[in-house]
Amino acid sequence: MVLPIALFLLLLSLGFQIEAQLQVGFYNDKCAGVETIVRQEVHKAFVQDYGIAPGLIRMHFHDCVVRGCDFSIGIDSTPNNLAEKDGPPNGISLRGFEVIDNAKAMIESKCERVVSCADILAFAARDSAFFTGGMFWDVPAGRRDGRVSLAAETIDIPAPFNNLDELTRAFNKKGLTQREMVALSGAHTIGISHCTSFSNRLYNFSSTNSQDPTLDADYAAQLKQKCPRGPGGSIDPNLVVPMNKSPALLEPSYFGDVLTHRGLFTSDQALTTSTQTTEQARSYASNVLAWQADFALAMIKMSQIEVLTGAAGEIRSNCRRINP
Ligand code: HEM
Repeated sequence: MVLPIALFLLLLSLGFQIEAQLQVGFYNDKCAGVETIVRQEVHKAFVQDYGIAPGLIRMHFHDCVVRGCDFSIGIDSTPNNLAEKDGPPNGISLRGFEVIDNAKAMIESKCERVVSCADILAFAARDSAFFTGGMFWDVPAGRRDGRVSLAAETIDIPAPFNNLDELTRAFNKKGLTQREMVALSGAHTIGISHCTSFSNRLYNFSSTNSQDPTLDADYAAQLKQKCPRGPGGSIDPNLVVPMNKSPALLEPSYFGDVLTHRGLFTSDQALTTSTQTTEQARSYASNVLAWQADFALAMIKMSQIEVLTGAAGEIRSNCRRINP
């Protein structure tokens, strides 16, 4: 499928209600050119490894779900504190921190302590959707960086074994609707997953079925080849598989996958467990533009979850550490 190079979703700058005092063009008079710097850094990394794009989109989601979009996800652990990035769902699987570091270093050399790491990530996630899917939206900015990051709080991040009710509740808790959750799940058309994130569906699903009966049998066989069990039935924690057939292209083929029982996670397959969400998946599978518009709007909403603004939080000098 050929996607337009750039789909400019002008509706976003045309009257989209911006919550929490964020503003499109927030840095225009404070540190001009910031968004260009971020875009260049994302592009530089993306041409080396397309996986940076899915990495940054997922990082933004995980950041926003825990304490809002405050780049608490970027703070490094210390001997006294296990930080979010080392919490269970993040641990070995988040990637792209160095892109934020590089953009931050360039920006700091131009304007010291003006641009938040949280905004840099929001711009970088948007740019990642541009490079993988030709989508563009204006990012309302003015987020401030948080000063707290706790691995224990990653409990709020939805899990791949969640069912539809659990997923809906997790998103509702953050102010996102089930409809927005379905649209956002389309991000699972890019990137990779570790085998350990779904191997229960292949080998030890339930007491009656070792394999998840809702998983297409051919697809399950392919996954088993890529994720074989080692001695004692263990799975090599480093093994990964692509999310789908075109893991570098952000387009709605994910919805076709779930409709044909080829969703990778229980949480993906869960979208076909209600009439409403199945219908939504069906409409996205056959209408790229409808999905792109809903995805972009949902990303903008997600990127404003519980943001710190005004005098709250701080502007970190180094995205990995709170200011002394
Ligand atoms: C609906 C609830 C969700 C669950 C349960 C979930 C779970 C997961 C899991 C388990 C992985 C694989 C991690 C690994 O083993 O390496 C993953 C990857 C990914 N997720 Fe989600 N996710 C959800 C929603 C989202 C949302 C809302 C977004 C973004 C808007 C997103 C973006 C991604 C991306 C891009 C990847 C690939 C990352 C990479 O290649 O580095 N996910 N997700």
